[in-house]
Amino acid sequence: MNSVDIAKRLKKAMEFYQELGFKYLPVKVEHKCISVKASKMLDSKLRSEVKIPNSPLGELPATTPTTDKESALRALREEIGDCQRCKLCKNRKNIVFGEGSSQAEIMFIGEGPGRDEDIQARPFVGEAGKLLTSLIVKLKLKREEVYIANIVKCRPPNNREPEDDEIAICRSFVERQIEIIKPKVIVSLGKVSAHALLKIKMPISKIRGNFFDYRGIPLMPTFHPAYLLRNKKDKWLTWADMQKVLEKIKN
Ligand code: URA
Repeated sequence: MNSVDIAKRLKKAMEFYQELGFKYLPVKVEHKCISVKASKMLDSKLRSEVKIPNSPLGELPATTPTTDKESALRALREEIGDCQRCKLCKNRKNIVFGEGSSQAEIMFIGEGPGRDEDIQARPFVGEAGKLLTSLIVKLKLKREEVYIANIVKCRPPNNREPEDDEIAICRSFVERQIEIIKPKVIVSLGKVSAHALLKIKMPISKIRGNFFDYRGIPLMPTFHPAYLLRNKKDKWLTWADMQKVLEKIKN
């Protein structure tokens, strides 16, 4: 390829990233690069390390009709009621159950509601939510086509991380949301979500970009949108993770 062709290709690639909303391209990647072979080895090592403890439910059954899924989600919301099961109930304004399509192929799972979510009773509607929504749109999906939920359903005071006891009490609800929706892929957003679902404590920077198994469903951990707001240069990593998710859904 001559230099004119290279320049044309580069220009096209840069226009592509610009279209996606990137203002900068990472020219110096600070994360250690790993070869494809090493990446595959890491993937299989991680997979074997993160076998989810057997649930009494085992792998999730194949399909459930839409209306059944909707009514199961409604019933679950009713069961949560005006929850007083943990200390987060003291300061919350609203329970943020989750929203989206009961038929969703992709389910995004964040950490817990922030201030805006607590006020509106909807997940990911603040600044981080806007970024997540724009990512979904750039993937040529609609926000209403996916399902968005959190590990804990009530806002932790001052946006602190949810504590272990709060996660332990609330986790069965997100687990049942997953069971009902049976998405093709779960995308866990940030450390808290990945750790809670996979029951591991590895840094998000090490596990992101690799598929894990959550009760028979592929789970892709990626960065939390709030982290990406502070570290814009890492947006492209989440973009790359999401390309793997789309590929997995196609297959
Ligand atoms: N951060 C989260 O983890 N979840 C939300 O719903 C909003 C911000």
